[in-house]
This record gives sequence, structure tokens and C-alpha cells, in this order.
Amino acid sequence: MRWFSASKLAAAWTVANAAVRSAAFELDVGSTESIIAGATLAAEGMMHYYHGNEPGNTPGILPPPYYWWEVGAMFGGLMDYWWYTGNDTWNDIVMQGMLFQIGGDGLLMPANQTTSEGNDDQAFWAIATMMAAERGFPNPPAHKPQWLGVTQTVFNLQATRWDKANCNGGLRWQIFQWNNGYTYKNTVSNGCFFQLATRLARYTGNATYSEWANKIWDWSYSSGLISDDYRFYDGLDIPSNCTVNHNQWSYNAGLFLAGSAFMYNITTGSEQAKWKTRVDGILWMAGVFFHPTQTNIMYEAICEPYPRGCNTDQKSFKAYFSRWLALTTQMAPYTAETIMPKLQVSAKAALETCVGGSDGVTCGLKWYKGDWGAWDGSYGVGEQMAVMEVTQSLLIPGKPSPFTEVKGGNSTGNPSGGGGGDNPQLSAIIDLSRPTAGQRAGAAFATLTVLSMTGYMVYYMVT
Ligand SMILES: *[C@@H]1O[C@H](CO)[C@@H](O)[C@H](O)[C@H]1NC(C)=O
Ligand SMILES: *[C@@H]1O[C@H](CO)[C@@H](O)[C@H](O)[C@H]1NC(C)=O
Ligand SMILES: *[C@@H]1O[C@H](CO)[C@@H](O)[C@H](O)[C@H]1NC(C)=O
Ligand SMILES: *[C@@H]1O[C@H](CO)[C@@H](O)[C@H](O)[C@H]1NC(C)=O
Ligand SMILES: *[C@@H]1O[C@H](CO)[C@@H](O)[C@H](O)[C@H]1NC(C)=O
Ligand SMILES: *[C@@H]1O[C@H](CO)[C@@H](O)[C@H](O)[C@H]1NC(C)=O
Repeated sequence: MRWFSASKLAAAWTVANAAVRSAAFELDVGSTESIIAGATLAAEGMMHYYHGNEPGNTPGILPPPYYWWEVGAMFGGLMDYWWYTGNDTWNDIVMQGMLFQIGGDGLLMPANQTTSEGNDDQAFWAIATMMAAERGFPNPPAHKPQWLGVTQTVFNLQATRWDKANCNGGLRWQIFQWNNGYTYKNTVSNGCFFQLATRLARYTGNATYSEWANKIWDWSYSSGLISDDYRFYDGLDIPSNCTVNHNQWSYNAGLFLAGSAFMYNITTGSEQAKWKTRVDGILWMAGVFFHPTQTNIMYEAICEPYPRGCNTDQKSFKAYFSRWLALTTQMAPYTAETIMPKLQVSAKAALETCVGGSDGVTCGLKWYKGDWGAWDGSYGVGEQMAVMEVTQSLLIPGKPSPFTEVKGGNSTGNPSGGGGGDNPQLSAIIDLSRPTAGQRAGAAFATLTVLSMTGYMVYYMVT
């Protein structure tokens, strides 16, 4: 397992530098074998951190500092790994962890997580269940909740949480009012909800989802979370008069980009033109997440270049941004000529950082460093996942597009799953999970870590 203290890590790095430095992986973007080998190298490093499948451990949980949501995100990435490469090595682990955390009720609200579970956290898992339905990932045993049904259940639960009473709509970040962050409406929660709506709309053909997609976009725009030039800001604070925090993260652009591409794909006429304008605008502005001088190399613009750096969550964002850029090329094929070269250059640079750690193949965070073959000393699940996803994304040309109910997909749905706020199962969870003071303090700390970004406006990128 690759889990060192910082000082051990520094020592290992010094030794590695003094001795033989591993040769960087040279990605050949024209070779399927090379791409698979690169993605596999990053995936193996990522899975060194996961022990949920071992006796005595909890399936679907990563050790600290990784939060619950990142495992759902990682399982989504591994479903794509299987779908892109055909290698099913991790499928059983993914199935086990998914089912364990989904729970017998199919709500994706395990009691252990309710002290800090936000709408975004729940949705990252639901995005993985949506992917499973769309990719034809093996179905769960018949007596368990099914991929499509769980996705619909989460969608329905989130729809009941739409909060018209404050700032005119939107989802709050947190689900439970005792959690810090309940008064914040973040773009990632609304962006995830938007993307789920668009994908369910395409998969099922049910117009209710398209209506919600429009409603979520319209509110996000009118509340100032989306700017006229398609920047996606972090969120807004209810007590301070719905004031917007202007930090920009790559995954928010990615969520709305892919979601808009789904809408573009399933609409016609002026509706389609509307979504095309959005796809084009987001894609253009997404240029801010590629390095200004290291052309076409993806970076998390607001944290990577600065001394304060990126936190554990933020180190993984490029994984999802890559994933959704690739998906966009399927739903709006004309975007491929813009997107693919950026993914290719980024993947090549990303793999060149995978020369770190005591194993000599640990991937770093800053792909743009320019000093090829250099690892920046950063390591972890997010770093590995981002390299895995940007690399495997290169295999998307020619792959089948996401399945739908009428084409390829056979996951069983549950259109009325979740059943709204008076669901007795839900009330039970709420009663059981009221946190102790200690747990509350833990949740408050995690939240403040993110919210305090507001105080660091020096990091705010004006492009
Ligand atoms: C699938 O992935 C595993 C783990 O990375 C690797 O050991 C195995 O060789 C791969 N299988 C094939 C057929 O490439
Ligand atoms: C909740 O935590 C307990 C104690 O660690 C563990 O036994 C249980 O499996 C966990 N449940 C889930 C769904 O993670
Ligand atoms: C469902 O679809 C998957 C992927 O195409 C396929 O492997 C599986 O056999 C199908 N199951 C049924 C019951 O049709
Ligand atoms: C709150 O925002 C509204 C609309 O922007 C503005 O008219 C009002 O003056 C603001 N109130 C405070 C207290 O800032
Ligand atoms: C919608 O997606 C399909 C599948 O990727 C693609 O073949 C089709 O061209 C897309 N439609 C439009 C209008 O781009
Ligand atoms: C369409 O979706 C909505 C929202 O989940 C649901 O209430 C409705 O039953 C669905 N309609 C059909 C025909 O499945």
C-alpha cells in the first residue's frame, strides 16, 4: 500500500532522485495498446489505496483523507475503465462497493454518511449508477436495487429538495439542516442534478427530466452561478443575500458541458440551437482550464499554480472534467475536433508525471510543469484517477454511445423511487442519524475548508 508520511515520502523521493529515476511512460496517442497500458498504470496505483474489499473493511469506503463521494466518483471512473479497455479486473470490487453503499433501500443515503452527505456527494454515486445503465455494466442481482432505478430514486429525492423559498430555487449543498453548508447552494450540486436530468431524459425519453434540465439551467443562470460568457462559479450563500462566490472549478464546467451536449443530442430545431449555443460557449470558456503557456495541458487553474495548492477533493477534479469532455464528443460529435487534441496533449503530459514515489510510477498533480519526466511530489487517489481518466478518454472515438432504454440498455427502472419527503424509510434515516456534537464538529471542519476559499480571492483567476 502506498501510504507514507510526508517525511518518508520526501526521503523516498530524494533516494529515487539520487539513484535511478524511472523512465517516464511515453504515451503513443495513436496506439490503443499504449493508451490501455497508460490507463492501467494509473488505475493500478489508484487501487493501491482501496481496501474496502478486504476482510474487516467496509466496501465502498476509502481510508482518510478521502471522503465518501470520491469513492462513488472512482467507481464511475472504473466503470469507464472497463468499458474503454475491456479489462474487467475491477468490476467485482466496483459491484460490491456500489451495492454496499447504495443500500437495500436504493436511496444512496447510508446512515454512516448522513453527518456530512451533501446533494453533490449523493449525486456523484448516482452518476456512477447512470453510467452503469448507459454502459451496460453487469446488472446487480435481481433482488437488489437496479442501476436505473437508483438513479431515478436519487433524482426524485433531489427534486423534492428544490428550494424555491430561498434565492428563488436551486438545491442546497447539504441535505440535512444540521450540517454546515446547509445555507450554501453550490454549483456542483445543481450541476450534478442537471446532468442526471439530461441523461435520464435521453435514457428514458421521459419529458419530465428535460423540463427539470431546463429549470435547473435557468435558475443557475438567473441566480448568477452561470455568467453570460459561460463561466461557472462556485455557489451562493443564502444568508448573505444570495451572494455568489466566484471561484471556478473545472468539474462544474464539465458537468454543464456534457449535460448540455445530451440536451443538444435529444432536441431539434430551436431547442437544439439553444443547447448548441451553450455547448459552444462552455467549450470555449473551458479554455481557462488549460494552461496559458503549456498549450492544451489541463490544469485546475484556481489551485494548482498557487502556494496554498489543491485540497484532496480538488486534486481529483480533472478526472471528471476529462470524463465529461470525452462524453461530449459522443453527444455532440462536431466537438471532437476541438476536444480530442486537448485530451491527447493532456494525457501525454499527465503520464509523464508518473515517475514518483517509492514505486517509481506514482503520478503527480501538475501536468503542465514542463520539466518532462518530473513528478511534483503530489500523490493520492485524485492524482491517479485524473491520469487514468484523461488517458482512457482517448479511446472514445468509435466506441458505442451511451445506451438508452430502447437501444442497448436493459437496466430496470423505478420512476417513482424515493417517493418524496414523507417516505417512511427516509424519516427513519433522519431519526437514526442525528449527529452527536463530535460528529457535527467534524462535518463543520470539512465544510469550512471549502468555504474559506472565499477569503482567498488572490486565487481567483480572471482568465
Ligand atoms: C487487466 O488489468 C489487470 C490489473 O491492472 C492486469 O494485471 C491485467 O494484465 C489486465 N488484463 C489484460 C488482459 O490486459
Ligand atoms: C457503517 O460503519 C460501520 C462501522 O464502521 C460498518 O460496520 C458498516 O459496514 C458501515 N456501513 C456502510 C454502509 O458503510
Ligand atoms: C443486459 O445488457 C448487457 C449489456 O449489453 C448484457 O450483457 C446482458 O446480457 C443483458 N441482460 C439481459 C437480461 O438481457
Ligand atoms: C440584496 O440583493 C438585492 C438584489 O441584488 C439588492 O437589491 C439588495 O439591495 C440587496 N440587499 C442587501 C442587504 O445587500
Ligand atoms: C447524437 O448522438 C449520436 C450517438 O453518439 C450521434 O451519432 C448523433 O450524431 C448525435 N446527434 C447530433 C445531432 O449530433
Ligand atoms: C416520468 O418521470 C417522472 C419523474 O420521475 C415520474 O413521476 C413519471 O412517472 C415518469 N413517467 C413515466 C411514463 O415513466
